[in-house]
Formats: sequence, C-alpha cells, structure tokens
Amino acid sequence: MKSFRIRIVLGFTLLTALLSALVAAWVYQSSAELLRDDTDRLLRDRAYVLSKSVTPMAMRLQPWMEAFLETDKTGLRVQVVDPEGAVLTQSANLTEALPLSQQARDAATTNMSSFTETLRLKDGTMMRVTSVPVSTYRDSKSAVIGFAQVALPESVRHARLDSLMARLLGVVMASAVVAWLLANVLSKAWLRSVDAAAESAHRIGLGGTLRERLFVPKDEDEVARLARAFNELLDKLESAHGTQQRFLADASHELRTPLTVLRGEIEVALRRERPAEEYREVLESSREEIERLARLTENLLSLARSDAGEGLVTSESVDLAELCGRVCDSTSAAALEKRIHLVVDAPEPVFVNGDACALERVCLNLVENAIRYSPAGESVTLRAVTEDDEAVLSVSDTGPGIGPEHLPHLFERFYRVDKARSREHGGAGLGLAIVEALVKAHGGSVAVSSIVGRGTTFTVRLPLRA
Ligand SMILES: Nc1ncnc2c1ncn2[C@@H]1O[C@H](COP(=O)(O)OP(=O)(O)OP(=O)(O)O)[C@@H](O)[C@H]1O
Ligand SMILES: [Mg+2]
Repeated sequence: MKSFRIRIVLGFTLLTALLSALVAAWVYQSSAELLRDDTDRLLRDRAYVLSKSVTPMAMRLQPWMEAFLETDKTGLRVQVVDPEGAVLTQSANLTEALPLSQQARDAATTNMSSFTETLRLKDGTMMRVTSVPVSTYRDSKSAVIGFAQVALPESVRHARLDSLMARLLGVVMASAVVAWLLANVLSKAWLRSVDAAAESAHRIGLGGTLRERLFVPKDEDEVARLARAFNELLDKLESAHGTQQRFLADASHELRTPLTVLRGEIEVALRRERPAEEYREVLESSREEIERLARLTENLLSLARSDAGEGLVTSESVDLAELCGRVCDSTSAAALEKRIHLVVDAPEPVFVNGDACALERVCLNLVENAIRYSPAGESVTLRAVTEDDEAVLSVSDTGPGIGPEHLPHLFERFYRVDKARSREHGGAGLGLAIVEALVKAHGGSVAVSSIVGRGTTFTVRLPLRA
C-alpha cells in the first residue's frame, strides 16, 4: 500500500467502523438484557392479575379477562391449571397446553412466589412462561389450588432483537461510509501542501535551476518544517553550485593566461629565423610560464583533493619548531635574493598530529607570501609555540600590510588584493585557500591580522598531540 493518503483513509475508516461496531455490540447486549427484564416483568404482572381473578369456585378464564390481559394485542398466552398441571382454562390463542415444571411447583410450595422460565413446547416453540400459584385459605392455612400461567413466545423477543441488530448494522455501515468520505476530504486538504511541495521539488529537479524555492505554508506544522528544511538545502546547494561555477571559471581563466603568453612568445619566435641566443631566451621565458602552470595545476589538484576529503594521507607526530627550521632553509635563497631577513623563533619542540608534508605546505605558502609581498630589507619571523593547550604557528612580516576591506576575503579561492601586481609575482590567489583547507583538515584554524604600512601576521592554531 503505497499512498500515504490511502493509508490515512483506510485507517480512519477501519477505526471508525471498529469503534461503532463495539458501541453497537454494547447497545445490543444491554438492550437484550433490558428486553428480557421487561418481558419477565410483564409476564409476572399479568400472571398475578390472572391469579387474583380466578376463584376457587370458578377456576376459569372470564371473557373480559382476555380483553383485559390484551392477549390478542400483546400475543400473551394465558392458562390456569390445577396443582397437577391439568388445564382448567386457557386463552383462545393457546393451541397447546403450557407444561407446569417441577421448579414452578417447588417455588409455590416453598414460598408462594412466582417462577419464570423458558420452556420448549411439543411443537418446538420456545416460550417464556411465568407461573404464579393460586391459593386459598383452608383450615387457617393457605393451600395451592392451581397455577395461573402467562407465556410469550420467545420469537416475539427475537424478532425485536433482530430488527435492532439490523438497525445497528446499518448505523455501523453508515458511520464507516461517512468516515471514509470525511477521511477522503480531510486527507486531500491536509496533504494538498505535501502534494504542492512534491510538485515544485519535481519541477526544480526537471528545470535544472536551483533558484526556485518550495512554498512554505503559514501554519507551523510538519509540512512547513519539511519545506523550510528543503529550502535550506536548496540554499546550500545553490551557493555550493555558484562557488563551483566561479571556481571553474577562475581556474580556466588562470590556466588560459599563461597558455596565451606561451603561444604568443612561440609564435613571435617562429615568425623568422633567429640566432640561438634569442631562441634560448624564448625557451627560458616559456619555462617560467610552464612552471607557473605546473604550480597552478598542482594547487588546483590539492584543493580538489581537500574538497573531496582526501587531503590527509598520514597522521604522524610533527614538530612545528623543526618544521619552521626546514621551511626557513628552503626559502632562504628566495629571501636572500630579495634581501629579506628570515627569523625563526621556536625555542622548544611543539608536537602536533598530522601530515608532515601538508603542514610544511601550510608554512611554506605563508612564508612565500610574506617574502613575495614584502619589499626588500623587511624581515619575516616564523614562530612555533604552545599557547593555552594549543600549538600556534605564526608567520609575521614587516611588509606593506593588507587593507581591512580585503581581510574577510583573503582565504577565498583566486582572491588577490592587487590583481595586476600579484599576477606579476606569479600568484593565482590559491595559496591561502589551500592553507585554510589543510589547517581545517587538521582540526585547526587560521587567522590574519594586519596593519597597513606596518605588516601582516598569519596565525595557525592546531590541537596539540594527544
Ligand atoms: N604577507 C602578505 N602581505 C601582504 N599581502 C599578502 C600577504 N599574504 C597574502 N597577501 C595578499 O593576499 C592575496 C592572496 O594570497 P594567496 O597566497 O592566496 O595567493 P597568491 O599568493 O596571490 O597566489 P598563489 O599563492 O596561489 O601563488 C595575495 O594576492 C596578496 O595580495
Ligand atoms: Mg601565495
């Protein structure tokens, strides 16, 4: 059973039918008991009247008695018998004598009371019979001189119960039908918003545009919550999709520029015969462009890997102090060339858990930036210390600083403060994005503080080795 609506309708209908059937069963049971009590009371009353109307002298039924007892209207059968059960008189509607049971006789002899029972006549008819003793005073003692019996065929009661049963069944069926109709109407109304939501979700899927949103119903119900959650998901998807599109566009742009430069230089070189020296110059310049391309593709690859969650391959114990020394060694040549003073301030080992290559990459990117964007004569300091149960690695320079309006965007992919100048330096604006991705993959954070004209400090915080 697939449809939620069908399940609601069926469940509601079955429940209503079950409840009304239970109520009907209870009504039937109590009515049957009431009817039996009523019949017994009627039989007893009539039998008493009969027992008082016959006299020892005239143990027979007066014609007015039959009219008084309404034997024709109520279907009551009446009869008077002697103590042995021989019929003395009986009503016209009684075709067969009512038997006098032993229990009725015993009840009369012990306490002179009436006795009601169900008896089967010879022709198979079931009768409810009340027998009341007819007594007289003889020698100052009361003696039973006969029995007044009043009976009603059980079929009369059964017929009434059957008609009640038919009516109750009708009520049960009618309530089930009403419940089914009601459940149909209500469930259609309740699920209209779900249908609408499913329809727009389907349209969004087909249209391929992530701009559309689901309608959120005003009531604060489950459907509204679902629609809101779905819309939030769409917001995230749209923003991720936008970022990806921008990334792709920036990446192709960055790749195209060095390729265009390469092609231009080669075309110019090939236009005519040139001396070997000129070819060498062209080749050298081409190699620079190729190196830039290689660096860019490498950076793109590592970003793509960290996006896919494959950033870290190993988790080993890494000493940040030692790492600073290594980075200082590998960048000293570039620093020397730009006459930048490199200082390492890492007096004690600072151990963290992580990938040594990745962490070296983080430090290297920061130091490279510091050297690249600081003018000659400035200094760059690498620090590795333990602070508040955290490992802190910082790279500060005394360079030109970065304007506060750029700081929030610095870690975005392809973001460069001075696009023209950075391009000259060969940067694509991916270095800091890679730093942030790698630091996050290590469970840490990276922050920047800068004062224009004074310098910049990048601070990486990582959890200490456990
Ligand atoms: N120490 C710094 N001093 C001044 N500006 C900086 C410094 N570090 C980064 N920047 C600015 O931030 C921008 C982004 O740096 P990022 O390292 O992400 O890219 P890039 O160095 O331009 O290129 P890539 O690192 O991909 O070769 C740089 O273009 C530069 O303008
Ligand atoms: Mg950089």
